[in-house]
Amino acid sequence: MNLTESFRDAPIGRKLILIGLLTTALALFSVSIILVARGWVDWRGKTVSEMESYAALIGANAAPSMIFADYDAAAEVLQTVVGNSDIVDAVLYDREGKVFARYRAPMHPEGNMPLVESDSYLFTFDQLVVTKPVMLKGEVWGTVYLESDLRGLYADIRRQALLTFITAAGVFLVTLFLFSRLQRAIVEPVVNLSGVMRQVSSKRDYAVRVPVHGKDEVGVLAGAFNDMLAQIQARDEALARHSEHLEQEVAQRTAELRENNRLLEHELVERKRAEETMARLRYELAMVLESAGEGICTMDANGNHVMVNPSAARMFGYEAEEMVGRDSHSLWHYAKADGSPYPEEECPVYATTRDGVVRRSEGEVFWRKGGTSFPVEYVCTPIQSNGAITGTVVIFRDITERRRAEAERRRLSEAVAQSMEAIVLTNTERSIIYVNPSFMRLFGYSAQEVVGQSIDLLTVEDGIYLNPHQTTEIALAQGAYSGETMRRGKDGRAILVLLNVAIVRDEHNEISGYVGTMTDLTELKHAEMEARQRMVELTHANAELRELNAKLAQAQIQLMQSEKMASIGMLAAGVAHEINNPIGYIHSNLGALGNYIGNFIGVLDAYEKVEQSAPDRSALFAGVDELKEKVDIAYIRQDVKALLHESHEGVERVTKIVQDLKDFSRIETEEQWTPENVHHGIDSTLNVIWNELKYKCEVIKEYGELPDIDCLPSQLNQVFMNLLVNAAQSIETRGRITIRTGREGERVWVEVGDTGQGIPPENISHLFDPFFTTKPVGKGTGLGLSVSYNIVEKHHGKIEVHSEIGKGTTFRVWLPIRQIKESA
Ligand SMILES: Nc1ncnc2c1ncn2[C@@H]1O[C@H](COP(=O)(O)OP(=O)(O)OP(=O)(O)O)[C@@H](O)[C@H]1O
Ligand SMILES: [Mg+2]
Repeated sequence: MNLTESFRDAPIGRKLILIGLLTTALALFSVSIILVARGWVDWRGKTVSEMESYAALIGANAAPSMIFADYDAAAEVLQTVVGNSDIVDAVLYDREGKVFARYRAPMHPEGNMPLVESDSYLFTFDQLVVTKPVMLKGEVWGTVYLESDLRGLYADIRRQALLTFITAAGVFLVTLFLFSRLQRAIVEPVVNLSGVMRQVSSKRDYAVRVPVHGKDEVGVLAGAFNDMLAQIQARDEALARHSEHLEQEVAQRTAELRENNRLLEHELVERKRAEETMARLRYELAMVLESAGEGICTMDANGNHVMVNPSAARMFGYEAEEMVGRDSHSLWHYAKADGSPYPEEECPVYATTRDGVVRRSEGEVFWRKGGTSFPVEYVCTPIQSNGAITGTVVIFRDITERRRAEAERRRLSEAVAQSMEAIVLTNTERSIIYVNPSFMRLFGYSAQEVVGQSIDLLTVEDGIYLNPHQTTEIALAQGAYSGETMRRGKDGRAILVLLNVAIVRDEHNEISGYVGTMTDLTELKHAEMEARQRMVELTHANAELRELNAKLAQAQIQLMQSEKMASIGMLAAGVAHEINNPIGYIHSNLGALGNYIGNFIGVLDAYEKVEQSAPDRSALFAGVDELKEKVDIAYIRQDVKALLHESHEGVERVTKIVQDLKDFSRIETEEQWTPENVHHGIDSTLNVIWNELKYKCEVIKEYGELPDIDCLPSQLNQVFMNLLVNAAQSIETRGRITIRTGREGERVWVEVGDTGQGIPPENISHLFDPFFTTKPVGKGTGLGLSVSYNIVEKHHGKIEVHSEIGKGTTFRVWLPIRQIKESA
């Protein structure tokens, strides 16, 4: 909003105040400015003329002094004239412009005086300079220079101006106060008037009145306004009374009119509805006739066509218009199915026209335009008007398709009935609708017994096979189900069947039920079971044969091995036996020989004693001494004992070896379980194969405390021998074989460790296979470990291997201390 707009919209009181104040302020301000300006100009003129009169006075008084060059007098003149004025500097210049005399007010700084033209004045910021020539008798004698300080004067003027403005402001404030008081006298009646007007216009309240003060223009206006309001009020009241009456009349009239209107509208609606219903019915009828699949013809009382619907025209092969007006019987009902004429008297259509009875017929034929016929099913209904028969409606259907479908259905149901498979049809609730004869045969039910029953009737509660509920669920989810299952017959017998379930859909593709076909698998299963049984038997026989074969091979291997051992054993036993006798007598002879030699030496000692005491000994024993010397009898004496001792030892060792040989090869005609010391077996085995070991390795024994164990000693010896020989053979140049034994609970263990080349991991699983060997032909047969394995197994023990390439191998044999006696 700009300034003019806001002024325009301001309340009238404020406007008045503003106008008064603005004019007052302007007047006061102008007057003050004029006063101050006037004062200023007056003061200037006065000051200059005052200064000029001072200068003239000085000039007049100082001229004689200057003529006579009386400086002091001139100075005195200056002092006297200037002494009590505002002049701060007064100078007298001579004709040459040199200073003749000077007066300076105390405190006034000594400075250059501004050069001012002679006989003129100059205002500077804070001073006024006046110059005047010194004249005497029309001749210029010099110049007077006066300088006045204006600061005091300026201060006076400022004070004066301030006073003026303060006075103006005071006047302004008083004016403001008076205005605001006085304006009310004008403004208030106007405000009252406008308030009342606003009330009248907004509330339409004409009873209010404006208070009237005085008789000025506003008072007159208020009085006139009040008169006008009074008139309006009176007229308003009259109007109100009148309109009240009028309203009642109008209301009554309106109510009557409204009622009439309503009746009319209702009638109109009813009529419209009736018309609509008629139109709709007509339309629907036309539609029905138009779209009906059935042929519909209406005939008048004479049997002539009145209306033919499109289906009828199509079936007859005519245009509808062609038929209208023509006689129906002669057009399409003139002959029977066999071609013989159809007398009008027999025609059901005519009969209905005559007696008004509704008739139905099936098996007749109607005739087409070209002379061909079609089988129909029809109904004739009379048309009656006011109790009289005015015509007939014939509604008919071509049943060719139905006949064909029926024939088809017959064929199908025949096929189903004849099927070898049991067929059952259910609805969606799984209630049986149909069963074929094969079903009845298979399950023993008659059709009457099962139709209407739930298919769950056939359930077998075995928890293995899917029940009918489940199979139909699957068929529903996947479209079909096929699989073997068990169903129950009437007699409770479980029947294994191959079941196929499919869903059945109606003409709208909606699921209408399920069809199940079942093939009896009992026979088939029997045959299959038998075949399977036969197969199992064959497999068994095969396995047995294979086992036998394996056993045979094993036996063969063992036989070979034990034959080998037996022959070694026999040989060893034979040798041992042969050696045993000579060793026996060598042993006893050696004993006797020892005694004899002792005796000999005793005799020899006795002789030597005699020899010592014999006279002439040297002559007598010269030959003997020579002989003694020759054989070194002294050495013999010593050595013979040692020899005997050594021989004794040798014989003893041989005896031991022979014993070991015997032990090792103990030929058992029959395997004999005996409690035996394992260490003993290991030691005798070591003895037998010592030759093979001694150059290759040192043997370390770390035997634990072992009880005797139940075993076949010679067979266990074979195991030890195999392990020890393998260990020795794995050592290339020289190494160590460590034999450890120990006991753990009811078992003992024997460990043979070597520092040989080790076994590659891929060979470990083959170690115990017969004929597995890595040794060159002739050196190993690959039977050693296989035979050992069997022997240990026979002892209900086990063999463990641990091997590291380049470091060595350890075999550990576990054996139970006691063998559980198997019934022989
Ligand atoms: N201590 C061992 N160190 C390294 N390899 C071994 C050891 N013991 C067995 N083997 C490996 O196992 C193979 C089979 O041993 P096994 O005793 O059955 O037959 P063999 O010693 O080859 O022949 P045989 O013992 O019939 O004379 C050996 O060829 C050898 O490769
Ligand atoms: Mg071996």
